[in-house]
Amino acid sequence: MNTICKFFFLAVTILAMISCEESKSPPDQPVNLRTEYLRNPIGLDNPFPAFSWEVNDQTRGAAQSAYRILVASSLEKLDSNEGDIWDSGKITSDQSHLVGWQGSELTSRQVCYWKVMTYDQVGQPSVYSQPASFEMGLLERSDWKAKWIGIDETGKPPRSVMFRKEFTAGNEVKKARIYITGLGTYLLYVNGNKVGDDLLAPGWTDYRKKVQYQVYDVTDFVITGENAIGVVLGNMWWSSGLGWQGGVAYSQGPLRFIAQLEIETGDGKAEVFSDESWKGSHSPYVENTIYDGVTFDARLVQKGWDLPGFDDSKWRSVADLDMSGIRMVAQQEPPIRIVSVVEPVSITEPVEGNYVFDFGINMVGYGKLKVQAPRGTRIQLKYAELLHPNGTVAQENLRSAKVIDDYICSGEGMEEFEPHFTYHGFQYVEVSGLPSKPDKETLKALVFNSAVESAGTFSCSKEILNSIQANIWRGQRSNLMSVPTDCPQRDERLGWMGDAQIFGPTSCYNMDMARFYKKWMRDILDSQDEKEGFVYDVNPAIVVGGPSKPAWGDAVIVIPWIVYKFYGDKSIIEENYDGMKRWVEYMHGNSTDNLYTWSNEDSTWFGYGDWVPVERSPSKPISQAYYYYSTKLLAEMAKIIGKSEDGKELSDRLPAIKDAFNKAYYIKDSASYVGGTQTANLIPVAFGLTEEQFTETVMNSVVENVKAHDNHLTTGFLGTPLLLPMLSDFGHHEIAYASAVQTTYPSWGYMVEKGATTIWELWNSDTERPEGMNSRNHFAYGSVGEWYYGYLAGIRPDVNNPGFKRIIIRPMPAGDLISAKASVMTPYGKVLSDWELKDGSFILSVTIPANTTAEIHLPLKEGSKVMEGESEIYSGGKLTRGKEFFKLTSATDSEVVLETVSGNYLFVVR
Ligand code: BGC
Repeated sequence: MNTICKFFFLAVTILAMISCEESKSPPDQPVNLRTEYLRNPIGLDNPFPAFSWEVNDQTRGAAQSAYRILVASSLEKLDSNEGDIWDSGKITSDQSHLVGWQGSELTSRQVCYWKVMTYDQVGQPSVYSQPASFEMGLLERSDWKAKWIGIDETGKPPRSVMFRKEFTAGNEVKKARIYITGLGTYLLYVNGNKVGDDLLAPGWTDYRKKVQYQVYDVTDFVITGENAIGVVLGNMWWSSGLGWQGGVAYSQGPLRFIAQLEIETGDGKAEVFSDESWKGSHSPYVENTIYDGVTFDARLVQKGWDLPGFDDSKWRSVADLDMSGIRMVAQQEPPIRIVSVVEPVSITEPVEGNYVFDFGINMVGYGKLKVQAPRGTRIQLKYAELLHPNGTVAQENLRSAKVIDDYICSGEGMEEFEPHFTYHGFQYVEVSGLPSKPDKETLKALVFNSAVESAGTFSCSKEILNSIQANIWRGQRSNLMSVPTDCPQRDERLGWMGDAQIFGPTSCYNMDMARFYKKWMRDILDSQDEKEGFVYDVNPAIVVGGPSKPAWGDAVIVIPWIVYKFYGDKSIIEENYDGMKRWVEYMHGNSTDNLYTWSNEDSTWFGYGDWVPVERSPSKPISQAYYYYSTKLLAEMAKIIGKSEDGKELSDRLPAIKDAFNKAYYIKDSASYVGGTQTANLIPVAFGLTEEQFTETVMNSVVENVKAHDNHLTTGFLGTPLLLPMLSDFGHHEIAYASAVQTTYPSWGYMVEKGATTIWELWNSDTERPEGMNSRNHFAYGSVGEWYYGYLAGIRPDVNNPGFKRIIIRPMPAGDLISAKASVMTPYGKVLSDWELKDGSFILSVTIPANTTAEIHLPLKEGSKVMEGESEIYSGGKLTRGKEFFKLTSATDSEVVLETVSGNYLFVVR
C-alpha cells in the first residue's frame, strides 16, 4: 500500500475511533492459523516456514498494527507463554499472511507449537490464538536409513508387487511416524489397517529428478508386541506408459519403495526400515496401468499377509535398488483424496447381462464394486463419458486408453473391490459378468482428486450461468490430479501448460490453488531443458516434444504471476526466477530482429496458436505476443523481488518487441491485426502491445466481429479468457453478457443445453467425430469463470496489493441479470459481493475482511444517491456522510468509486 493510502486509512480509523462514543473493544483471538498454507501439517521440509492467520475483529476498519508470534517445543511451554523456539516479540506490521520464519533453522522431525496475538489499529492486543502445530519431515538424505527396495524384475508394464515385514514394538507406544514413498504408487498397511486416506501417493513429479515422500501418523496402528507392515505397489505415472504417442514410461521397473517407521515407546526409540530383510511377492493386481485400468484376481489374495504371524517363507527376497541420484522431498501439493461418493441415478440393461450405471454427472475417480458371485467369476467395469444410441457405453473418444477394470471373484461371501492404481473420467459404467440383476449398492462412484480446498462460490439470477459455473467447478476438480491435467479420461491426462495458464485465474477464484501451483512450478523447472533453457509443453515432461510452443511454455511465467496476484506469495517468484528467466532468454535468443516465431522443421506450423477455435487465427503473431507478455511479466516480477537491474533490462527490451509486433502484424487501415479474428485482435490489446491511440478501434473490430456472429464467440483456448473481460473493460459489457448467456453454438450454454455436466474440449464436441481429440472434461474453456467472479459479481485482487490485501469490488449488472453473488476465501478471510436490483434500486452487500482495505465501485444512474446502512453517504458528486469510512476516489454519472476499510457494508443506490 502506498504511503498516502496508509495515511488515509490510519486517519479514518482514528477518526472512526473518536466518533465512537465507546472505545473499540480489542480484537478477538486470531483464527485460521496456517503454516505454509496448511493446518497443523506433519512432514514439512521448508526449514523456514511461513505463517498465516486471520485477524478476528468484526469492527469496521479493523486492522492489524502489530503481532507477536510464540513458538514452543511443547504445548505446556506454549501455554505458559514460553517461546523457547522463537518469540518474535511485538512486531509492528500489518502483515498477517506468509510471515517469514525468524527463528533458528528447523531440523528434521522437529515438532513446534505456535500461537499468535494481534494488535488492532489503536494498539489493543488480542489474547493469544488457540495453538497450532507443525512437524518437520526428513530434511537430509542422511536421515533415511531405509533403502529403496523391490523385486528385481521389469515388465512393460511391470507386474504389481507387495512387500511385508514384521517387527516388535516395546511397551506403551507413544508416537509412531512412517516416512514412505514408492514408484509408481503405493498402498500402505500396518497390522491390516490401510494407512492414510490419500490415493495414488506419492503423486506425480519428474521421477528422473525427484520423488515426493509422505509422512503418516501411525501411532494408533502400532501395538506393543508383534506388528506387521505391508506395502503394495502399482505403476501409475511412473511405469504405465504415458501420452498419446504410444506410452512413454519413466521406467519399466522394478517397482520400488522406501519406508522408515520411527516409534517412540516407554522402552525408548525404535526404527523399522525397508531393506533386504523384507520379503516380496506378486500382488493380486495382475494388471494395472493408468489408462487401461486394473485387473484384480481375488483368488490370489493371501489372507493375513499384512498381519504378524503370516508364513512368508515362499515369498521372494528383495533387492536394494539404488536411487541416490533422485531427490526426495516432502509432498508439496494437497494429497489426492476421495471428495464424494456418487450413487447411480439409473441402471439400464441395453444388452442382456450388461448393466449400464449412469451416475448423472461426468466425473473422475473409479467405481467401487460390491458383489457376491462364484469363485472365478470375472466382472468387468467399462467406463465412458458417453453412450452409444443403443445405450451401451461409448469409448471411442478415449482413443487408445482401454479404461476397463476387471474383478475376478474369490467366491467368499460379499466381496468389495476398488481398482487402486488407476483413475477414470466417466459418467457411465457398463458392468458385465454379474451373477444377478444389480442394484444401487452394487456400484458406487468414488470421486477423487488433489484435495485442494474450495475457496469461492458464484451464483446469479441467470440459471444458465449457474449451470456453466457448476460445470467449470467439476471440470476443475476433475483435472487436479497431482498436476493440472488437460483431461482425465483418454490417453493423455497430462500437465498441458497452455490449458493451465488460461484457466489459472478462474481456478484460484474457485479453489485454494497456492500450494498446488507452487508444486507444479517445481515440476516444470525440474523438466526444463538443461542446455537451452526451454520448457516443455507438458509437465512433468514425458520425454516427448522439443521446446514448448508459444502460450504453452509461457505458463512458466504466467502461473507465478497469477499465484502472486491471488495469494501475495513472492516465494513462487523467488524460488523459480532463474528458470523463468531462462525461458524468456530462450525466446530472446531465438528471435530475429526482435521477432520470435516458434517453429519446427515444418515451417508452415507455428505452434498450437489459438487452439481449437471456431475461427482460426494466425499463430505467428501469437508467438510474438507471448514473447512480449512473458518478458513484460518477468520484468514486473524481477522488480517485485528486488532484482531491479534485471527488471530494467527486461523492460528495456519491450519497446522493440512491441514495435516489431505492430510492424509485422498490425493493419492500420482495417484497425485490425492480421487474421482479423476476435482472438487476433484481443491478444495485442490485452497484453499492451497495441498503441494506446488504437486500442479503442481495435476493440471495435472485436465488437463488430462478435456482432457479425450474432453475439457469439469464435475464439479458441487463448482468446476465450480475454473476450468477455476485454469487452467489459472497453465499455461493451452488454455484448459480453449477450455472448455469455448464449445457448446456441458456439457458447458455454450450448454445451449445457446438450447435456454437458463438465466443460468440453471443443465448442462442437457433440458434432465433431468422437474418435478424435474430443474430451468432455477439459477445464480450458472454463476460463470464463474469471469474468463471473471478477465482473458480474465483481471481486478482483489488486496486483499492487496482492493476495486480496486490497480488494477491488466492481459489480457489473447487465442484460436481464437481477442478482449476482460471489464469495472468495482470501488469505485474510471471506470477501463477499452480493447484489440485486430491487424496486429500481441497486442493493449491494459487501464483506471486506479485517486487515484489508477495498476499492468499491458502485454503478450509478444520473442523479443517483447512495445509502449505506441507514445513512445517505453520496449524492450530487459528493460524499455527504461517512467520511470516517469512505474516501471518494472518483465519480462520474455512471459510477462512484470509494476507498474503504474492512467491515460489512450494505449499499443502496437509488
Ligand atoms: C490437449 C490440449 C492441449 C493440446 C495442445 C491436446 O491434446 O488435450 O488440451 O493443450 O493438445 O495443443
